[in-house]
Amino acid sequence: MERRKKNNEIKVKMTGIKKVFAGISVLDNVDFELRKGEIHALMGENGAGKSTLMRVLSGVYQAEEGEIFINGEKKNMRSPKDGIDNGVSVIWQEFSLMPDLSVAENILLDDLNSGKKIINWQKFYKRARAILDDLGYQNINERARIGELSTSQQQVVEICKALSRKANVLVLDEPTALLATQEVKKLFEILKQLKEQGSSIVYISHRLDEIFELSDRITVLKDGMLAGTVSTKEVDEESLMLMMVGRKPSELFSERVARIGDVTVKAEKLCRGKKVRNISFEARSGEVLGMYGLVGAGRTETVRLLFGADKKDAGEIYINGEKAKIDSPKDALRYKLGLLAEDRKHQGVLLDMAIRITSTLSSLKGYTSRFGKILFVKEAEAVKKICTSLNLKYNNINQHVSELSGGNQQKVALSKLLLSDCEILLLDEPTRGVDVGAKIEIFGLINQLAESGKTLIVISSEMMELIGLCDRVIVIHEGKVMASLDKKDITEENLIKYSMGVTV
Ligand SMILES: Nc1ncnc2c1ncn2[C@@H]1O[C@H](COP(=O)(O)OP(=O)(O)OP(=O)(O)O)[C@@H](O)[C@H]1O
Ligand SMILES: [Mg+2]
Repeated sequence: MERRKKNNEIKVKMTGIKKVFAGISVLDNVDFELRKGEIHALMGENGAGKSTLMRVLSGVYQAEEGEIFINGEKKNMRSPKDGIDNGVSVIWQEFSLMPDLSVAENILLDDLNSGKKIINWQKFYKRARAILDDLGYQNINERARIGELSTSQQQVVEICKALSRKANVLVLDEPTALLATQEVKKLFEILKQLKEQGSSIVYISHRLDEIFELSDRITVLKDGMLAGTVSTKEVDEESLMLMMVGRKPSELFSERVARIGDVTVKAEKLCRGKKVRNISFEARSGEVLGMYGLVGAGRTETVRLLFGADKKDAGEIYINGEKAKIDSPKDALRYKLGLLAEDRKHQGVLLDMAIRITSTLSSLKGYTSRFGKILFVKEAEAVKKICTSLNLKYNNINQHVSELSGGNQQKVALSKLLLSDCEILLLDEPTRGVDVGAKIEIFGLINQLAESGKTLIVISSEMMELIGLCDRVIVIHEGKVMASLDKKDITEENLIKYSMGVTV
């Protein structure tokens, strides 16, 4: 294949794009240009319009104004099919897989929809197998049902589906938020290879390290407008943040006066299959306990056992010194345990409900009168307050959560928990998909909650987060606790070492 090291040929050009929802302009006069053989990063705060711009490019939404050119030809993108026909393939921020179909059926869904009556299933599965193998994902069974896979593996299938279309414009909307480290590495190799072969790639992410590793150019959106397009070589983190947020970033972590009290939650020899093997730990009131480990190490599974979301095979849970019987999330709520789940689409937020309702759902008691009437004004005030503190981008609190941007949905899921009267909060990747500004707010809230005496257990894959936030971190590897690190020992070196399975 012909190598194109330097090529300024323009593949996609979007000019003067305007998109309006309910009278509010979400994209305003946006220009965007994608070259052949380029990885172009798209950045900006939650709700800035990144996903919307790509929905316009791929035909999911139609713009009110503006033009799209592909290979210099003006295009009318009226439906997602137009997008695919023009070689634009998208890996969306939210899963679009069919949980009851097999891996192969999902990857080759276009074939199933093509109207062909007879399908040679043997060949069909073989083709899916070849795609998975080609991309280096040998460990995924093409016949497995999507519902049986881990979140990370589902994301891999999503990627394979998009790549199987052999599109020459590939859009990835925060693809790594749910991927295991190993799989991120593989994905990056694939993307670099595709670029060498002349594909054009749009990469959306809030992670600066990824942007600097991958991209040739960066376009920043701010409040639906173009803040600028720059060459990655010519910018540093600070100038990028300035473009995105409009001000210099404040300190990521604020100081917290830790007043650590009694043990509130104690897990003793928790077991579930191969994922959780004899996990024991304690957390205290006023403490932020971190859980580190590679994706798939068993962190999510452990907190799901604490919350009663899965059934444990063995082990005990003690709350405030007493043996607790937690067999369901309902039991957990009785013990004032709350969980922010990893996969917000299926567990965290109820997408079809209004922001107002989802936020207060687990704390309705506090907003109900003695006679069972909901105190709407009081409820609305509480919701508005927390939405403001997290800088949630929304029109009104009766808006459906599904209309919010991905990062803002995460904020709603979090506010639901923060408004509840839970004393022990289990947060699984609380800052996934949220922008830098909101991260600072979330860390601030976590600190406040700890100061007020609550217990926080935080799972994160970002080491800096745990180092800045936690009083103690336990490191999990293949379902076992490898180390419990005190504040002074929470270092990158230790986190990496123990997460790889080194024993103390
Ligand atoms: N169908 C819709 N109806 C109403 N508003 C919408 C709809 N889709 C998007 N919006 C609004 O458009 C704005 C931009 O959303 P978009 O999803 O493009 O943001 P984003 O930059 O991708 O953010 P994130 O980083 O959180 O994913 C948001 O304020 C969002 O609420
Ligand atoms: Mg988005």
